[in-house]
Amino acid sequence: MDKIVIEGGFPLRGDIRISGAKNSAIKLMAVCLLTDQQITLTNMPRLRDTRSMGQLLTHLGVEVGEVGASTMTLHAPKLSSSEAPYDLVRKMRATFNVLGPLLAREEEARVSLPGGCAIGARPVDLHLKALEAMGAKIELEQGYVVASAKGGLRGAEISFPFVSVGATEHALLSAVLAKGETVLMNAAREPEIIDLANCLNAMGAKITGAGRSEVRIEGVAKLGGVEHSVVPDRIEAGTYALAAATAGGSVRLTHVRHDHLGALWPLIAQAGARVSLDDSTVLIERGTGRPNPVDIDTQAYPGFPTDLQAQFMALVGLADGVSIIRENIFENRFMHCPELTRMGADITVRGREAIVRGVPEYVAAPVMATDLRASASLINAGLAARGETHISRVYHLDRGFEHIEVKLGQCGARIKRVPDD
Ligand code: UD1
Repeated sequence: MDKIVIEGGFPLRGDIRISGAKNSAIKLMAVCLLTDQQITLTNMPRLRDTRSMGQLLTHLGVEVGEVGASTMTLHAPKLSSSEAPYDLVRKMRATFNVLGPLLAREEEARVSLPGGCAIGARPVDLHLKALEAMGAKIELEQGYVVASAKGGLRGAEISFPFVSVGATEHALLSAVLAKGETVLMNAAREPEIIDLANCLNAMGAKITGAGRSEVRIEGVAKLGGVEHSVVPDRIEAGTYALAAATAGGSVRLTHVRHDHLGALWPLIAQAGARVSLDDSTVLIERGTGRPNPVDIDTQAYPGFPTDLQAQFMALVGLADGVSIIRENIFENRFMHCPELTRMGADITVRGREAIVRGVPEYVAAPVMATDLRASASLINAGLAARGETHISRVYHLDRGFEHIEVKLGQCGARIKRVPDD
């Protein structure tokens, strides 16, 4: 396995092109199960997670093709299996979202319970309750969900007890071909959900209200093909914005939807970086001097994203003062804290809160990537640290960041990928 080696202490200067959103791309790939026509996805990021989803879809009988670097075609005139085995699902939780589309198309499915980042218990009870409300019969057998919906799924009123991105997307994917109307209440409002709904509507679905708490889906009998461009990755954009704020310098992000990060910009500015927003670009500048402390509180969209919590902590870890970081979405998402502490950070975790007492500098150390976004926070800390930071277990990074060492290298970062021995 590879590791990333960073010689820190150099400010970043240059442009970074933001890729299509991982969290949107992997759900968009599943729409091919709902039609016998071809799906073409452009602005696709090349990631381990999109490859994992591709492997699962291939197993189900989908013809998966690549055209150039960032276009993917998916075509399933008929499916050869309705079983998603453990080996393919354990690598990435979002593969579980094939369950609803398989039920909608084949009226039966056998899907392994998911794996993914170890950032909490992450059950799928809301997904299963939504499918049951739509008439699916569900049993759990040796780690598998065995489901059937003879005669197809039916529209239903589904009120989520709390906001779940995955369950909202899964319900959307399941309801588009159901008989009658489905109403989702307390739905997640993330931009990736709007992206999924836009793609499904372009295929002939009838979804209204995506991006709001109440979403209505009028089931249709058939969906057609589509060409759809994946929305820009707001988490990748936020990560590089925070890299510039942490390491200093001046970085211009291009191909961004800055309106998708409305909760981040004021907080980066409060920390002392200058943020200039333009049509599809964002310029982040930070000179010398320590950042200011800033408290954050993660929330479902449009609040501060949990997926940027670790990277924000790497920034305020260097602040001149104390910051309180509260994680409200996942119960176990502070695994980067001991690793940042190895680099000299002063962090105390109490339940869902981390008290971060800023230190004047990070000092390079060997550290270990524990999950996808935690890995990015170690990269950002390494860019600012004195000395050479070695980050092992980088496969987490490859799940969600396209060419991270190339993109940062173009901005002057001294970063390389080497085999880990
Ligand atoms: C998605 C994102 C992830 C992001 C998260 C929150 C993808 C591939 N991943 O994950 O990057 O951090 O949204 O913005 O899009 N929960 C239950 N039961 C369920 C479903 C969820 O208890 O059936 C809990 C989870 O354990 C978690 C909370 O609800 O504590 C929110 O999870 P959810 O919004 O579903 O996150 P994911 O869709 O897994």
